[in-house]
Amino acid sequence: MTTGHDTRLDSFNDTGLYPPNNHRDRPEDPDMTATDQRTQEPGADSAPHDGAEPETERTVIFDVEDLNVYYGDFRAVRDASLKVHKNEITAFIGPSGCGKTTLLRCFNRMNDLIETARVTGSLRYHGVDLYHPKVDSVEVRRQIGMVFQKPNPFPKSIWANVAYGPRVAGLAKKGPAMDDIVENSLRKAALWDEVKDRLDDNALGLSGGQQQRLCIARAIATDPDVLLMDEPCSALDPIATTRIEELMQGLKDDYSIVIVTHNMQQAARVSDRTAFFSVEVNPESDTRTGILVEYDSTQKMFSNPADERTENYVTGRFG
Ligand SMILES: Nc1ncnc2c1ncn2[C@@H]1O[C@H](COP(=O)(O)OP(=O)(O)OP(=O)(O)O)[C@@H](O)[C@H]1O
Ligand SMILES: [Mg+2]
Repeated sequence: MTTGHDTRLDSFNDTGLYPPNNHRDRPEDPDMTATDQRTQEPGADSAPHDGAEPETERTVIFDVEDLNVYYGDFRAVRDASLKVHKNEITAFIGPSGCGKTTLLRCFNRMNDLIETARVTGSLRYHGVDLYHPKVDSVEVRRQIGMVFQKPNPFPKSIWANVAYGPRVAGLAKKGPAMDDIVENSLRKAALWDEVKDRLDDNALGLSGGQQQRLCIARAIATDPDVLLMDEPCSALDPIATTRIEELMQGLKDDYSIVIVTHNMQQAARVSDRTAFFSVEVNPESDTRTGILVEYDSTQKMFSNPADERTENYVTGRFG
């Protein structure tokens, strides 16, 4: 896909935070020289990971350490630490209110849009502090796209929905280059064949499953690095859900995906790693805080979790 995003990255590089090469190969440590970064083994200093594919074989995209998220005085997520890996699907599971959406929104700074929200601790994206004051949150959201629970296409044509992001990001103008982006994005989202003859039709005329794939195409169109998906199938029927799950499997070759899901089978089917969150109730203050109970390979989480709370949840005995 021709996106011209190098220009955008160049402006991002003015922050001194992002290295100048293409984001697909973006190195991990902002303090290293470009040469050092190119010769570094991905994840070479990572500890081995019990059960999952060893971390030495996977580049870390997000490194979260002791992250706390507050809404005003209320702490919604406490001391979460985990690593998200490149070209993997990472699932967040846990009962309602345990902070899955809150944490997911930290990954592309969507919480910035909530006035009371405040984040403490460390969240590094390719080694860069995502909350550094010099980091441009608009550029962050271009690189880290989001798909929401309810399909939310704009009340515009199918073509315009996909072209919107690239146009705003200055990746292309109306014309053949934009047509290419629209077609490629719709193809990647497995929607092209269904809509290629009706690109000028209003997107709201599509089925729910088609609308959600259109939203995925819209997220892909700005050539992101990561896709965040918050319960992307919860409004869809089983057939549409299967299509999205298959689509995700194909997309992980090009993107790293973090998905929130309430569907245990879905987490087990699609994800490589699973994080289980729970709610801790403080009886004295009667406050409820989201905590990360366990994070491991999906296979281990669903067959032999280390924590009894995980086992109770994945086997349906709780939540
Ligand atoms: N904008 C907000 N302002 C204040 N509190 C919020 C806000 N968004 C979420 N919360 C609170 O933060 C906690 C975590 O909410 P969050 O939506 O992250 O949970 P969740 O795990 O995604 O739940 P669900 O599975 O129901 O979507 C809840 O107690 C919720 O009430
Ligand atoms: Mg949620």
